[in-house]
Amino acid sequence: MPRWSPCRDAVRIAPSLLAADFGKLADAVHALEGSGAERLHVDVMDGVFVPNFTFGVDTVSALRRETQLPLELHLMIIEPERHLKRFAGAGADGITVHYEVSPHLHRTLTTIRDLNCRAGAAINPSTPALVLDDVLEVCDLALVMTINPGFGGQQLIPHTLHKVHQVRDEIARQGLTTEVEVDGGVDASNARACVDAGADVLVSGTGVFRHGGGPAAGVASIEAALQGG
Ligand code: DX5
Ligand code: ZN
Repeated sequence: MPRWSPCRDAVRIAPSLLAADFGKLADAVHALEGSGAERLHVDVMDGVFVPNFTFGVDTVSALRRETQLPLELHLMIIEPERHLKRFAGAGADGITVHYEVSPHLHRTLTTIRDLNCRAGAAINPSTPALVLDDVLEVCDLALVMTINPGFGGQQLIPHTLHKVHQVRDEIARQGLTTEVEVDGGVDASNARACVDAGADVLVSGTGVFRHGGGPAAGVASIEAALQGG
């Protein structure tokens, strides 16, 4: 099966399941079918790289059974290279690993692609954008964390949008088509600023799942903000 290739016509919205009700994950996923959400963002945490725990391989398999929406895994775990095969086997369409825990990042990204998944590289707010320069060509996605990872519901750190610019400019300079994703504190109030900085994939947890009108209304509010509504 060919690797999932996102449509590039519009800004892509990726709801983060971290803000969903863990006791009703299937309902949360079904509520997003046909909502305009282009993929699901699945945060995997190990309690070591970040001080929190979330989903494992079995949860990914369960999500896979519930939806056709692409599953983009954001691995906030140490030694991610040890777990790629199992997450790919569980049904991941994309796997993003952190630069800060990947001494062999080029090899890890290449391995993810060999597993027929889209490969992503993420950087924390304290990590300079230029560390990605030499792996962008083996990246399908560059993730600029706009918060310090580990928890949802935080405020976006404005300085991180400067790094979004830098990554976008470097991708253009190298003539690549790598996506630029922002993750953390993104909602209808700052979606436009993220896109103006160069992002084309917006991850949103609280902005989608804590919206008074429900998850689909949360996605629609971000889309409306991007249309200038
Ligand atoms: C945090 C995660 C994010 C988080 C985003 O470490 O990587 O994906 O769930 O949630 P909000 O949009 O609530 O900041
Ligand atoms: Zn995430």
